[in-house]
Amino acid sequence: MSLSRTQTTFAPPVMEARRWLDGVTHPSDRPLLNVSQAAPIDPPPAPLREAMAQIVLDDPDAHLYGPVLGLPELRGEVAQKWTSGYGGAVKPTQVAITSGCNQAFAAAIATICGEGDEVVVPVPYYFNHRMWLDMSGVRTVPLMTGDGMIPDPDKAAALITDRTRAIALVSPNNPCGVEYPSETLHAFMDLTRAHGIALIVDETYRDFDSRAGAPHDLFADPHWDDTLIQLYSFSKSYRLTGHRIGAVVASKDRLAEIEKFLDTVAICPNQLGQRAALWGMRNLGDWLAGERLEILDRRAAIHDNFSTLAGQGWKLLGCGAYFAYVTHPFGMSSADLAPRLVQDAGILLLPGTMFMPDDMPGGESQLRIAFANIDREGVETLFDRLAALSY
Ligand SMILES: Cc1ncc(COP(=O)(O)O)c(C=O)c1O
Repeated sequence: MSLSRTQTTFAPPVMEARRWLDGVTHPSDRPLLNVSQAAPIDPPPAPLREAMAQIVLDDPDAHLYGPVLGLPELRGEVAQKWTSGYGGAVKPTQVAITSGCNQAFAAAIATICGEGDEVVVPVPYYFNHRMWLDMSGVRTVPLMTGDGMIPDPDKAAALITDRTRAIALVSPNNPCGVEYPSETLHAFMDLTRAHGIALIVDETYRDFDSRAGAPHDLFADPHWDDTLIQLYSFSKSYRLTGHRIGAVVASKDRLAEIEKFLDTVAICPNQLGQRAALWGMRNLGDWLAGERLEILDRRAAIHDNFSTLAGQGWKLLGCGAYFAYVTHPFGMSSADLAPRLVQDAGILLLPGTMFMPDDMPGGESQLRIAFANIDREGVETLFDRLAALSY
């Protein structure tokens, strides 16, 4: 009997990690430090929640089905902000709103790939991308990143076959935190275009990029939409995580294909969430700028305090967006170490083994620290607890 679609992949890693907490009690002087998930734990800011309450009461359309590709005003707002922000032309007809960025990836892949096709993905990868490719019957072709955790377009070129349909990048990267240089993205755009395949760039964390101005110039290319598919999330920027709003920016023709997927899976994105995202884009620019500075300060705290761990043999491989990606010095796999850290140090984080295929080396010595929800003091406490460990 053949495997079902879901049987082709693994169980959700974040849920598995949550189960490590079962039955463990944390002393009051050493509360749990949860650095496992890349999601805000606080609700959206109060003015946005108030606006949402008004929308619930006053806007009857917020409770009904809406257009499959999203609220026209929100598509227009994204197009306008992208046009000015990236220095290129993005039209509202090139923007679709999705039920979160994971769905945007799923929809994009559904329009590109058939059974047995291949997508090149830098490793370590974002595990939900791998899971969706598995469930779509698509082979994930791992592209090992080297020093600096930045993928090399020349190495990617060597992996392209007649089954390759896309290269999928995440920048700023989950899990490694690194921001891909504009030239790297440009080289990937040239490579994918030359092979007539798609370049998917997931920019879920773009609002927390440390660089001033646009992180790349891909949209400045007047023909960007013959190759580029950009993905975005409203989960991190306005903390609308639970309202499930994301976006896909691509050619009008591709969005017509994506419409088939979205119509069948969710009919339309969450109507309240879309209105909240629109309100956020129009009113929370300054607030978001402040959030970015706070995340950048937490990132600086990782660098400032890393000597505590470096002295014990730890290494910082990448740091940025919501993540620090590190190697540990212990003679055991991170897959065994991570569950033990819950009991031994009151720390929940994810092992590198969750971000790569089982047969690839490296993950056993790596750990991802999602630091967005801990402040400077929290970073110091985290590092003190890790530095005190010996196995
Ligand atoms: C790279 C990346 N893409 C997509 C998502 C999911 O975003 P959303 O909540 O919009 O589905 C995440 C969340 O962690 C992510 O890290």
